[in-house]
Amino acid sequence: MLPAKLSNGVLASSIRGSFQKLIASSVLRQQVRRTHDVEKPIDGSCVGCGNELLQDDPFCNPKNPVKVQFSDISAAAYNIRGGVRRTPCTRSNQLSKLLGIDLFLKKEYLQATGSFKERGARYAMLRIPEFERPKGVIAASAGNHALALCHHGQQLGIPVTVVMPVFAPLMKISCCRAYGANVIVKGRNIQESKGHALQLGAEQGMRYINGYDHPDVVAGQGTIGLEILDQVNDLDAAVIPIGGGGLIAGMALALKTLRPEIKIIGVEAETCPSFQNALTKGHLVPTSCGSGSLADGLAVPTVGCNALETVKGLIDQMVTVDEQSIALAILRLIEMEKAIVEGAGAVGLAALMSGKLPELQNKRVINILSGGNIDTTVLGRIIERGLAIDGRLIRFDVLVSDRPGGVAQLTTVIAELGASIKYIFNERAWVTTDMFSVRCKIVAEARDAEHVKEIEAGLRKRYNQVNFKFI
Ligand SMILES: Cc1ncc(COP(=O)(O)O)c(C=O)c1O
Repeated sequence: MLPAKLSNGVLASSIRGSFQKLIASSVLRQQVRRTHDVEKPIDGSCVGCGNELLQDDPFCNPKNPVKVQFSDISAAAYNIRGGVRRTPCTRSNQLSKLLGIDLFLKKEYLQATGSFKERGARYAMLRIPEFERPKGVIAASAGNHALALCHHGQQLGIPVTVVMPVFAPLMKISCCRAYGANVIVKGRNIQESKGHALQLGAEQGMRYINGYDHPDVVAGQGTIGLEILDQVNDLDAAVIPIGGGGLIAGMALALKTLRPEIKIIGVEAETCPSFQNALTKGHLVPTSCGSGSLADGLAVPTVGCNALETVKGLIDQMVTVDEQSIALAILRLIEMEKAIVEGAGAVGLAALMSGKLPELQNKRVINILSGGNIDTTVLGRIIERGLAIDGRLIRFDVLVSDRPGGVAQLTTVIAELGASIKYIFNERAWVTTDMFSVRCKIVAEARDAEHVKEIEAGLRKRYNQVNFKFI
C-alpha cells in the first residue's frame, strides 16, 4: 500500500518494498480485467478504454490513490532547479485589451522540449534511488511526456524506453530517438501502448512513469504554481488546461495553499470531458474521446486517480471549449504574442475568448501556455481555419458574364474593394440560367468583419447573383 504522503528526498522504503512486490506479481495480474475500478464507458465508442486489459501501475492505484502534499511540490522545486527552465510569465498587453482582463501568460512552451512535462518527468527520475537507475524507466506517450523523459533521461544518464502509439507524429518519434531513447512504436491507441509499456517494465524491472498521475509528476507540475506566485502579484484566477489532471492537480495545490483566494478554473476540450465526469461522480469515469481534436494532448479517456484525489475541493470551475475556439486562440497567440502554442496549450485562452468566463472581466488572470509542439503542416491548416472562423478568409460565388472580359472585370472589382483573391474556380456545367454565364467561386482574404460587409455590399451593387458562405 502506498502511503498517503510521500516524504521529501529519496523514496520511502515502504514504497520501495511495495513496488518490488508488486512488480514480482504484476505479470500474473496483468491478465485480470479490473472492471470494478471504473464505471462502464459512457457510450460504447470509448476510444482506448472499455475492452482493454487494465495493467497494474503500483504508483497509480485507483483503489488506494495518493494525495500529493504541498511539501512534495516544494521538494520538487528545490530538486529540479537548474535542470528545468524558469519560464517567463509576462503580461499580454494586446490580449488584455482585447478581452478586458489583466492577462498574464506563463510560457511553458519555452521549455527545452516545448512543454511543462519536463518538470514532472525530471523530478520523477531524480527520485529514483541510485541503485535502481541503471535499469531505466519506461512510459507510454504520444508526445510531450515522451520528449521530456527522453531529454532528461539523457541528461541524468538514466536509460529511457518510450512506447508510442502508431499514430504518434514521426517528428516526435525521431526526436525521442535523437535523445538516445529506446522508442517502441506499438499500440493503436495510448491505452494499448500503456499496456505494452507496463508489461515490458515489469519484465525488465524498469519503473513505469505515468505522465499525468505519478505522484512525483504531479508534484513536479506543481512547481509552475510556485513560480507564478513569485512572478505575478495579486492574482485573482488561474486558467489551466486538463488532460489526465496532473498539471491542474499540482498547480491548484501550490496556488491554493499559498493564496486560497485564487480561483482555479480547469479547461477541457469538448471532445473529451473526462475530468469533469470524474469530478461530478467523485471517481474515475472512462469517457469517450473523439479523435482528431486540435488539443490531442488532452484526450485522456480515464484521468489520473492520484491527480483526482489531490485536486478534490480545489477546483472552482470547469469549462469546455470547442475546436473552433481552440483554432482561433492559436491564431491570436501567433498574431498578438508571436507564440507558437499547440492546441492543448491554447485551451485556456480559448475559454477566455469564448465568453464563458465573464466574471473574470477586469481581474488579474494567469493562463498557462503549456506546450508548443505542433506539427508545421497542422499549424498551416489551423491558421487557415482560424482565419476562416475569424471572417478574414472568406468564400463566395458570383455569377458573371462568360463573354471575354467578364471574369477579368470581377477580379478588378474585388481588387478595388481591397480583397485579395487566394483561389478562383470557374464553374460552367451547373449554371442553369443561360449559356453565357459562369459562376466564379472565390476564396479571398479580407481585413476584418467590417471589410467583409463592404465587399459583400460592393459585389451586390454590381452583380445579381452573389452568395457568401460563412462558417
Ligand atoms: C501541452 C499540454 N498541455 C496540457 C496537458 C494536460 O496535462 P495533464 O495531462 O497533466 O492534465 C498536456 C498533456 O499531455 C499537454 O501536453
